[in-house]
Amino acid sequence: MLLARATIASPLMTVPSLGSVLAESWSRVLGLFQVGVWPWFGTSDAMDDLMPWGRGSLTSRPAPPSNDMEPSNEPVSTRDLPFYHLPVLMQEVLDMLQPAPGKLIFDGTLGGGGHSEALLQKGARVVAMDQDDAALDYAGERLKPYADRFCALKGNFRDFAAVLGEAGVTGLDGMLIDIGVSSHHLDAAERGFSFAKEGPLDMRMNTSAPLTAADIVNTYSQEDLERIMRENAEEPQARRIARAIVHDREKQPFTTTLQLAEMIARICPQHGRKKHPATLTFQALRCEVNQEYNALREFLAAATKWLKPGGRLVVISFHSIEDRIVKQAFQHQSAAFIDRPEWPEAKRNPDCTLRLLTKKPIEAGEIELSLNPRARSARLRAAERLPE
Ligand SMILES: C[S@@+](CC[C@H](N)C(=O)[O-])C[C@H]1O[C@@H](n2cnc3c(N)ncnc32)[C@H](O)[C@@H]1O
Repeated sequence: MLLARATIASPLMTVPSLGSVLAESWSRVLGLFQVGVWPWFGTSDAMDDLMPWGRGSLTSRPAPPSNDMEPSNEPVSTRDLPFYHLPVLMQEVLDMLQPAPGKLIFDGTLGGGGHSEALLQKGARVVAMDQDDAALDYAGERLKPYADRFCALKGNFRDFAAVLGEAGVTGLDGMLIDIGVSSHHLDAAERGFSFAKEGPLDMRMNTSAPLTAADIVNTYSQEDLERIMRENAEEPQARRIARAIVHDREKQPFTTTLQLAEMIARICPQHGRKKHPATLTFQALRCEVNQEYNALREFLAAATKWLKPGGRLVVISFHSIEDRIVKQAFQHQSAAFIDRPEWPEAKRNPDCTLRLLTKKPIEAGEIELSLNPRARSARLRAAERLPE
């Protein structure tokens, strides 16, 4: 079942007509479903009703009155909302995606809506996704002023093709994913992402997903715990931590973040290192709970087909495993030929659809780092869809 949530625009009409009266009442009904009161829909017709400018018309919607579409050069505002997340590499994202009126851009990780807002400010239309209700609620509120050009859908970006297909989208000028957790996830103790704050051992971005970090810690075998710590986070102490978890949970199951973080700190003392000893275990658990690498691989394998020729794909990652996945996918999709030792000669690569825009990942500059230390690990890679 596809799950959709969307912001609804009030129609801009000056001359009342029967159509406009009906549209207005319908808009008022739909208005009930705006931010904070999201319905769950399962059919394409429902999606149809929720799309602000109608099904199948995301790429062909007639231009609205010019005063509504004027790109603005005003700085991105967060209005009067509490802090949620500071977007990273903003200028670099704008340079790569070149948002402008008439362009349709997909933001697969809406988060606090900072990147989406900047794209909207430049006049583009944005269709966004997030799997987290808190992000959809916050960004939906923030982006209300753009409701006629912005639509948010609940879902995992690994399923973007089905969700956008259902919404009638046919070709994108740009795609962005800024992966991982938002600052809100780390700040909200009750979400269980932070090893520094007491909370339930949860870590689900989609809070209706079945598997929590506690389930993993309390039920995975020692071998599987060690494996996910190695594969998901390259934790050098994987064996020692896995053994200790299995030993300790016999006495008492792990239920909270600090219970786990303190146990890890006890058996792997910090010894002056900057990183908390539980950092990599928490990364491994989070990736397992949210299946982050599989989602990224699936997205990258499907994304290019959705870009128009010349359309651009931008991925921001936050650690080396993610960046390696992006680098390898981009390398494969930009190689004209592929060769294998067992082949007599190289073959034309049927997946060659991209031109790389970044040979090396782009990182945050000094000014950004001084304002937002979290940007320290951000790596941006971008590529452009080749002509047919
Ligand atoms: C780093 S934040 C994005 C911040 C955003 N660019 C902004 O400007 O505020 C990542 C967001 O992506 C969401 N997310 C991560 N993986 C996802 C996935 N596979 N599918 C959908 N949303 C995902 C998270 O819930 C989180 O809200």
